[in-house]
Amino acid sequence: MTKLNATITAVGGYVPEHILSNKMLETMVDTNEEWIISRTGIKERRILKGKGLGSSFLAINAAKDLIDKKNIDPKTIDLVIIATATPDMQGASTASYTATQIGATNAFAFDMDAACSSFLFGMSVAARYIESGAYKKVLLIGADKNSSMIDYTDRTTCIIFGDGAGAVLFEPNNEGLGMQDELLKTDGTGRDFLRVKSGGSCHPTDENAIKNKEQFIKQDGKTVFKNAVFNMADVSTKLLKRNNLKKEEVNWLAAHQANQRIIDATAKRIELTSDQVMVNIEKYGNTTSATIPLLLYDYESKLKKGDNIIFAAFGGGFSWGSIYFKWSYNNN
Ligand code: UT7
Repeated sequence: MTKLNATITAVGGYVPEHILSNKMLETMVDTNEEWIISRTGIKERRILKGKGLGSSFLAINAAKDLIDKKNIDPKTIDLVIIATATPDMQGASTASYTATQIGATNAFAFDMDAACSSFLFGMSVAARYIESGAYKKVLLIGADKNSSMIDYTDRTTCIIFGDGAGAVLFEPNNEGLGMQDELLKTDGTGRDFLRVKSGGSCHPTDENAIKNKEQFIKQDGKTVFKNAVFNMADVSTKLLKRNNLKKEEVNWLAAHQANQRIIDATAKRIELTSDQVMVNIEKYGNTTSATIPLLLYDYESKLKKGDNIIFAAFGGGFSWGSIYFKWSYNNN
């Protein structure tokens, strides 16, 4: 029996209307546009405004974009997975609500969180459901309302993060296209370097936590930076080698968008040139689980059937990995 491959057959995206520019940030914290652009590559990011709106709002809009573009009947979707580090709430998944709101009433749904690697790990999970033959249509959405965990008086984090969502549909492919190989990793000794301390089961948010601003994300930027470059390059290089893929045969590197300098340094270590690298960090900043699907959303028109894509991500936990993927459709 030939192996069933899992591939992406549709892409959707959504970012909120409100733009937070570097100039605006200059009025909020002690920073300047030149520093932000030269140290991160970010020009602006999107922020979700509106009381009571969470990551599901972003996810629903990205999913609707995909459904409308490809004219998909949402009732044919078997499973909805939401990759997110900022779920709507505890105890009720963002995915259940999203699936119902988009009319995927025959699907089951769940959330998964591996911080900034959530979407990459989600690709692995979505693919397994398809490859097993159990399901035919798996909708994977990366959605994060990062502004919900940002201290807008902390210049080391508020300049980086933005809100957004991207969605992809996984379906079977019998031409050998789609997921080819993956190398996914975690190292729990990294968790103190990037995290929101309170609000989880270890440290429920109390008055003391709020006094110490522990409900906001904090990171040791330099440690995260070094680990991100080393580890993304390491797993990507190993994947290329074990698949006998030469660097000139890679059409695209689709790496998590956390910092332009991290993306450049990773590409350099894998010996790729800038025309092989997808980048949109200047428009959205770091949208956590949405960076990779938003890259696909922005680059979809340039992708060709058979293109070799190396996906890579690094995030809190620490968590990281790389996926080798063959794109399966032309978009015109
Ligand atoms: O998705 C995974 C999550 N996160 C990441 O991957 C982030 C990884 N880390 C980074 O992207 C970078 O480390 C940052 C962008 C967070 C910081 O850049 P950096 O080049 O590592 O800066 P730094 O922390 O070494 O700070 C250099 C200087 C310091 O001043 P002194 O001590 O040299 O006087 C900082 O206080 O820049 C200062 N600084 C700023 N200046 C203006 C830090 N943030 C700012 C700012 N504006 N926003």
